[in-house]
Amino acid sequence: MSKDTVIYEVEDRIAWVRFNRPSKRNSMSPTLNRRMREVLDELEFRDDVGVLVLSGEGSAWSAGMDLNEYFRKTEAEGLGATRRAQAEAYGWWRRLRWFQKPTIAMVNGWCFGGGYGPLFGCDLAFAAEEAQFGLSEINWGILPGGGAAKVAVELMSMRDAMYHAMTGEPIDGRKAAQWKLVNEAHPLDQLKARVTEVAENLLKKNPVALKATKDALRRVAEMTYDNAEDYLIRAQEAANFHDNSGRKEGIKQFIDEKAYKPGLGVFEGADKPAAKPGT
Ligand code: COA
Repeated sequence: MSKDTVIYEVEDRIAWVRFNRPSKRNSMSPTLNRRMREVLDELEFRDDVGVLVLSGEGSAWSAGMDLNEYFRKTEAEGLGATRRAQAEAYGWWRRLRWFQKPTIAMVNGWCFGGGYGPLFGCDLAFAAEEAQFGLSEINWGILPGGGAAKVAVELMSMRDAMYHAMTGEPIDGRKAAQWKLVNEAHPLDQLKARVTEVAENLLKKNPVALKATKDALRRVAEMTYDNAEDYLIRAQEAANFHDNSGRKEGIKQFIDEKAYKPGLGVFEGADKPAAKPGT
């Protein structure tokens, strides 16, 4: 059943989405990729979803692309099938990078090769110390494609990325945190609690400001300083169209009411922006 390749539930405004091919270590088949795209569509604009967490069923987060179904079978069908499968995979990773809500990768286990696409697609990443990460492509005779080489140099130092890609040696969650592939690593039995804590923190923030912030960080990374300055002015002015009341309230509660300190926490009601754009 294609629907079974991804499962999710929404609890207290957190969408817990899981790769669900544990017997194949959650490797990404074309069926899974198509279903994941649908799931993102189903969740993105739901009012009861404020944060999306992506994890995996069983011992894997994702063992990367399915070497049989994604590579061998589609290649046997010809170039059209190959390009289609690539577009489906890259498509949902791109959707994830620009997803409306904050996204967190909760890496519970194996994470290899193509798995780095959705790993990078998530805004934040938390790993089990026991998880294993690897650019294993070199071990089966290809380069780290599907964006994986780009992810490596975006997140890691060039030396670490080069070592990681050329040796194909897996690293554990702790090292992945040292090498900045993930924000933090925790023992597996404490991972969900920590991710829940981070998600609950994000749920208190202004959602318009969160979307503007996550997009801004990804965009300015590619810009000159002057272009970034200009983009950020325009991005804030665009955000004001969707919620002009939030920042005024934030200033008022600090300057006039002395009700909170922005350096230490968020203002009251930040999670409820103006209901309609421009109001
Ligand atoms: N593509 C296709 N099938 C995969 C797969 C992948 N990327 N990763 C695992 N599987 C399948 C195995 O073929 C096996 O299938 P079977 O039960 O029908 O024989 C099943 O998942 C379990 O795999 P197994 O290797 O026995 O599990 P393990 O827990 O001992 O090892 C890994 C886990 C992740 C270390 C190992 O499966 C592996 O190296 N996978 C490939 C990782 C990789 O190079 N990914 C990069 C792709 S871009």
